[in-house]
Amino acid sequence: MLEIKNISKTFYKGTEEENQIFDSFSLNIEENTATTILGANGCGKSTLFNIITGEIQMDSGEILLNGEKFSDLPEEKRALYIGKVNQDPSMGVCPHLDILENMSMALKKGKKFTFRKLVNKENIEPIMEKLKEIDLGLENKLRTQVKFLSGGQRQSLSLLMATFKRPQILLLDEHTAALDPKTSKIVMEKTKSLIKKEKITTLMITHNLKNALEYSDRIIMLEKGKIVLDIKPQDINEEELREIYNSKISEEEKLRLVS
Ligand SMILES: Nc1ncnc2c1ncn2[C@@H]1O[C@H](COP(=O)(O)OP(=O)(O)O)[C@@H](O)[C@H]1O
Ligand SMILES: [Mg+2]
Repeated sequence: MLEIKNISKTFYKGTEEENQIFDSFSLNIEENTATTILGANGCGKSTLFNIITGEIQMDSGEILLNGEKFSDLPEEKRALYIGKVNQDPSMGVCPHLDILENMSMALKKGKKFTFRKLVNKENIEPIMEKLKEIDLGLENKLRTQVKFLSGGQRQSLSLLMATFKRPQILLLDEHTAALDPKTSKIVMEKTKSLIKKEKITTLMITHNLKNALEYSDRIIMLEKGKIVLDIKPQDINEEELREIYNSKISEEEKLRLVS
């Protein structure tokens, strides 16, 4: 479904800071699967997402989506096929706009619109229905500015916005990392039910091994631009996964790990 073929990327090529991230890296993602990507800080996980979205240009290689050459499309065209949620709760939303305006924007993704005519009356009902799905009572707060929501509410809203117009691929870049464990669990459950219901092919970056085991069909570990582990959760237990993971990350990172 998503084919990443022989991609290479080096930042600051030919300078002292030259930083090779990928050298002919390939990865195939099957339709309607949830894949977790693990790996030490700085190993290139977010760069991979940014190459898929077109935010970062690769040096060579190609990306195909449903057999078509996706990497030839400009970033704004690719955005029509991709939903993305980042770690930072303010990135997927406009904090100064209210919930209704944010959801209206998500609905207008890919279409031209003016802020004056952002909210169409006929969209209010479907927006409320959609908000009810995440069961946080946000449908009763349509006129609340998003900056007043909690981190968990914002990440849930981001997720809803990223999937409102069903994307072909959903990219989750540590989307629960900034949340406390309890809220993180709630957002992960909402993520799971959304992607199962809409059958969205998902790639998720996390440092949380429990989440990786519980919420994905496939776990991949990256190290120095290579896949060093590619396994199904049912074929490994948490201790084994932690042992492999700990052997790939620094002592400093281990201390920060949430179990
Ligand atoms: N836009 C960029 N310009 C230059 N260097 C970058 C850029 N994005 C990421 N890098 C570098 O690439 C490496 C991988 O970063 P990243 O993909 O963010 O890692 P992570 O696996 O933690 O998400 C890091 O050394 C980072 O500094
Ligand atoms: Mg990252």
